[in-house]
Amino acid sequence: MYAMKGHLWRKSQSAHSNTMGARLWFLFFAVNEVAALVHSQQLSSCQVFQKDAYCSNLNLTSIPPQLPASIHTLDLSWNLLQNLTEDVLFSYPTIKHLNLHSNRIQFIQPGFFQKMAHLQVLDLSKNELHVNAALKTNALGPLTSVHTLDLSGNGLFTDMSDYFLRDAPALTDLYLNGNSITKLGKDTFSGSLALRNINLHNNVILEIEEGTFDSLLDLTELDLSMNSISCITDFNLFHLKSLNLSKNSMTSFQSIESDEEFQLLHLDLRENKIHYFPILPSNNKLIYLDLSRNQLRSVNSTGAAEELQYLREKEELTHAPLRSSNGHQELHRLFYLDLSYNQLKNVPPDFFSSMRSLETLNISNNCLGTFIVDSEGPLNALKTLDLSFNNLQNLTFSEGTLRSLVTLYLQGNSLSILDSGMFSSLPSITSLHLQLNELRVCGLQEDPTSNCVSFSSIPTLQYLYLSENELSYLPAHAFQGTPLLILDVSLNPGLKVSEQALSGLENSLTYLSLKGNHLKTLSMDMSLLRGLRMVDLSSNRLTSLSLSTESNIEVLNLKNNRLTFLDDQTLMALEGMLKSLYISFNPLSCCANARLISWAQQASETIPDITVVTCQYRKNNEDVEISLRNVKPEHCETLHSKVLLISIIAVLVLGLMVVLLVAIKLCHSRSHRFNHSYKA
Ligand SMILES: *[C@@H]1O[C@H](CO)[C@@H](O)[C@H](O)[C@H]1NC(C)=O
Ligand SMILES: *[C@@H]1O[C@H](CO)[C@@H](O)[C@H](O)[C@H]1NC(C)=O
Ligand SMILES: *[C@@H]1O[C@H](CO)[C@@H](O)[C@H](O)[C@H]1NC(C)=O
Ligand SMILES: *[C@@H]1O[C@H](CO)[C@@H](O)[C@H](O)[C@H]1NC(C)=O
Ligand SMILES: *[C@@H]1O[C@H](CO)[C@@H](O)[C@H](O)[C@H]1NC(C)=O
Ligand SMILES: *[C@@H]1O[C@H](CO)[C@@H](O)[C@H](O)[C@H]1NC(C)=O
Repeated sequence: MYAMKGHLWRKSQSAHSNTMGARLWFLFFAVNEVAALVHSQQLSSCQVFQKDAYCSNLNLTSIPPQLPASIHTLDLSWNLLQNLTEDVLFSYPTIKHLNLHSNRIQFIQPGFFQKMAHLQVLDLSKNELHVNAALKTNALGPLTSVHTLDLSGNGLFTDMSDYFLRDAPALTDLYLNGNSITKLGKDTFSGSLALRNINLHNNVILEIEEGTFDSLLDLTELDLSMNSISCITDFNLFHLKSLNLSKNSMTSFQSIESDEEFQLLHLDLRENKIHYFPILPSNNKLIYLDLSRNQLRSVNSTGAAEELQYLREKEELTHAPLRSSNGHQELHRLFYLDLSYNQLKNVPPDFFSSMRSLETLNISNNCLGTFIVDSEGPLNALKTLDLSFNNLQNLTFSEGTLRSLVTLYLQGNSLSILDSGMFSSLPSITSLHLQLNELRVCGLQEDPTSNCVSFSSIPTLQYLYLSENELSYLPAHAFQGTPLLILDVSLNPGLKVSEQALSGLENSLTYLSLKGNHLKTLSMDMSLLRGLRMVDLSSNRLTSLSLSTESNIEVLNLKNNRLTFLDDQTLMALEGMLKSLYISFNPLSCCANARLISWAQQASETIPDITVVTCQYRKNNEDVEISLRNVKPEHCETLHSKVLLISIIAVLVLGLMVVLLVAIKLCHSRSHRFNHSYKA
């Protein structure tokens, strides 16, 4: 116990300067005395830094009583507190921030927070307040100065939040997300009129009574996402700036008819079931509108008005007469419009007539067969246009439109015929995504009526994606006058590439992909593209690769080709700059790649796929495959050298035998002579 308290004190001391010393000593004695009196074991592990006490994750079942009286922050998150009934908190009257996140709190005694006149932030998220049915009838008492109250993740039912909200005059930020609220009654917020931000994300709200938010004059942010709201018929929150209704079951959204200005800036209606374009406030400042993943069949909102009128008559509702809508609305300030994942077949060009500020337009994943931008809605502020994954066969951009367009997504359409000079008339175009179409690339001098698209002389274009277009030919000078940085022509099996196809790109091109094109040879010399850093030639049928002079390529992918060797000149051209060479899945020869092998064995980090790179050699008239890393000189002893070795051995053996024979013979005759002499 003592040691633990010492630990607490040391922590405090080490964190602060010596001037704190006296006060800490005092604290130490005070703590010691209280602890001795209460015999509590709990203080031990709380950590106190200046005015903040951290008692998180200590299995506490009650609030520790021995902390300094003047603390401002008390963090009791991740403990086992169940009932807040003790008045121990009264000994901490200066608390501003009380964190009770992730306990098991079910019950809070009325008046519990009353004496905490300075409490500003109260976090009760992730507790079990829902088990307390009394919340519906009682009241907690005043939350005098609390401005942020987090009640998220408590399983609270409808009206239970009233317990906290009846007298919360300073409350501005309220988190009720992750509860089980089904209905918002018109008195829910009548005791918390200062609210600015209400988060009701992830409840099961089906109904919002008329007038529920009307008296909240400062309300600017309302998150109703992930609920079960089916429609909004009379949107009238003039002061609201952000409304999130995503992930509900909305079939329509309609604002009341009024000439007064709405402050709404962000409206998120994503993931609903809306059929017709919403009827937005006529005098709006809207900058962000997300209608993606709905069931829009038309951008005409007349249908919405008609449908609502019908609903009204059916329900015999008496409302102000509908604002007559002539189909398209005024959206002068709109900056971002997302209509992706709907069922639009057509968007008439005059739909954009008021959208002078629109910078991002996303109509991807619809059923557009044609798309026209003309002088009625020139979209001259638009920077990003996404028309990908539609059924576009025809695309028309009139002269003098789309002057700011930087990025155009057209992938996944059926474009085969386009105005030949269509892209050169876009003065700011930088990035073109044309993969998964059926386009043909024009040569430099090609007749523009011959059903091809020209990519030459577009001085702003840097990124061009043409993969999966069934391209058969990349003609000479196709990109002359267009300073491409990135060119992707992958996955066009059968593509022929002219030797001059990339001329003009010598200094600009840094990335080139020709992956998956069934290329047998590469007639162009990539070392002439001085800017080139990354080249993907994988999944082709290349049998050779040659570079004439030193290249600047840093990453070269040659995976899955038919290369048997890389010649010394090519390797020398690469060696200076190369950082990564991918070469697995090629029928490499173990014995014709001495330079590559010594490179692989010395600097294996340059070959990231080295563990799967193999090569072949012949052994006993059979091809044997081994890892490139394991090649040893003896694998490459050719038949010739073996014959030589055998004959040398044979000659040696033969020579030895001759010598031996001669020696024996000599010996024999000597012993004869010896015999003679003996006789003699
Ligand atoms: C809290 O209780 C759990 C389960 O009994 C135990 O594993 C954990 O170590 C305890 N934590 C502390 C800080 O005592
Ligand atoms: C908390 O209060 C409930 C009901 O008021 C009671 O059943 C429970 O035993 C109390 N728990 C503690 C830890 O005091
Ligand atoms: C609306 O809520 C959803 C779900 O919580 C969230 O993903 C989205 O970002 C929110 N929209 C805006 C505009 O903040
Ligand atoms: C909108 O649809 C209505 C019929 O539903 C039609 O009369 C009107 O002309 C359409 N408006 C536009 C701008 O297409
Ligand atoms: C358009 O929407 C789709 C689907 O929601 C998304 O994947 C894509 O990134 C969006 N495009 C742009 C340019 O943001
Ligand atoms: C594409 O649209 C233009 C203008 O609307 C039209 O003149 C042309 O015939 C259309 N082309 C195709 C192939 O539909």
